[in-house]
Amino acid sequence: MIGVLVSGEGSNLQALIDAGLPIAAVASNRRAANALARAERTGLPARVFELEQYADRAARDREMADWLQLRGVDLVVLAGYMHLLTPAFLERFPERVVNVHPSLLPEFPGAHAIDEALAAGVETTGVTVHYVDDGLDTGDVIRQETVAVEPRESLVERMHAVEHRILPQVVAELCAR
Ligand code: GRF
Repeated sequence: MIGVLVSGEGSNLQALIDAGLPIAAVASNRRAANALARAERTGLPARVFELEQYADRAARDREMADWLQLRGVDLVVLAGYMHLLTPAFLERFPERVVNVHPSLLPEFPGAHAIDEALAAGVETTGVTVHYVDDGLDTGDVIRQETVAVEPRESLVERMHAVEHRILPQVVAELCAR
């Protein structure tokens, strides 16, 4: 079963839902995440794990891992989750945590990948689905797809379309393992 971690809009969560994948639980570090409302609308168990409520990040991550595992989660998908995960979380799901990132990693890691690709003047950027380690977008790449920067006006929209197609594909393949 899949656990999805979210922080924002939740369009990637929606793509996973629409693909009919077996999602058991949705967790967020942000109470205001619209993704939580999507989860609730779909009838998925959803819970907030705000850092401020815990002694430290490892304590928060342990409780989040407990909650997911209680719901049968054995594959974790970061779908716009904007916090680093500590080893306290990652060691509970070895080789079973994946993320979608809007660049051709290792280029442009971090929270501003599309803006940085534009500022660097590259002609081609893309989307990466990768395993998560405790670095910033540093885990092994599973799949990448290129996206042309021009026309710029539609770049964000085209990047999202690729995310929403390849993330569910990769997750379905990992579920089958
Ligand atoms: C996506 O662009 C993803 O690549 C990045 O954050 C964004 C999240 O979007 N890590 P959403 O919350 O899935 O709509």
